Amino acid sequence: MAKIKIGVLASGRGSNLQAIIDACGKKNSAAEVAVVISDRADSYALIRAKTRGIKAVFIDPASYASRKLHEKAIVKLLQQNKADLVCLAGYMRLLTGFIIGKFKNRILNIHPALLPAFPGAHGQKDALNYGVKVSGCTVHFVVEKMDFGPIIAQVPVLVAENDSVETLAGRILKQEHKLYPKVIELFAKGKLQVKGRRVNIKN
Ligand code: GRF
Repeated sequence: MAKIKIGVLASGRGSNLQAIIDACGKKNSAAEVAVVISDRADSYALIRAKTRGIKAVFIDPASYASRKLHEKAIVKLLQQNKADLVCLAGYMRLLTGFIIGKFKNRILNIHPALLPAFPGAHGQKDALNYGVKVSGCTVHFVVEKMDFGPIIAQVPVLVAENDSVETLAGRILKQEHKLYPKVIELFAKGKLQVKGRRVNIKN
């Protein structure tokens, strides 16, 4: 069966991208990374992609007059590379309805907390400071409201008394690297069914 093609958007170090690339390289994987796009020239994700021979492109937001025009350039590249699915992997920009409309229920994000708790850019720190005993990670479909789309899967991570933001984030990240490829595989095999806010996983 033909593999589905993924376009990954990343802004930073790209460890989730790496986990996705590695999982796609395994026998019987139903997906492949077709293109990696970053809004930052210095994103290590671009280097990770190039190292594996994957097309990696920096699209500079500063070169476009609006968010929509920047997204138009991204959509064009995704379409040129025949992306079936878009995965946000540490992409630090809120998407507009433009790109979301072009890839309806085909954009995923991973968040380092158990949504709907602790949305935003500091999920691990906010959870630690709040004093929760359990945090974790969430993979969800992307809608215009940040970290709000239908939840596909979550993994809990216990908070230890002596945790720092770094130690907690590190344990959550390990789970992210397992969870994201699993969800991508489910998507690729057509096993995710969205019903309103609920996502059913077919057998
Ligand atoms: C991860 O913690 C992810 O949950 C969040 O941004 C971080 C990205 O890390 N959305 P990396 O760039 O994949 O290493």
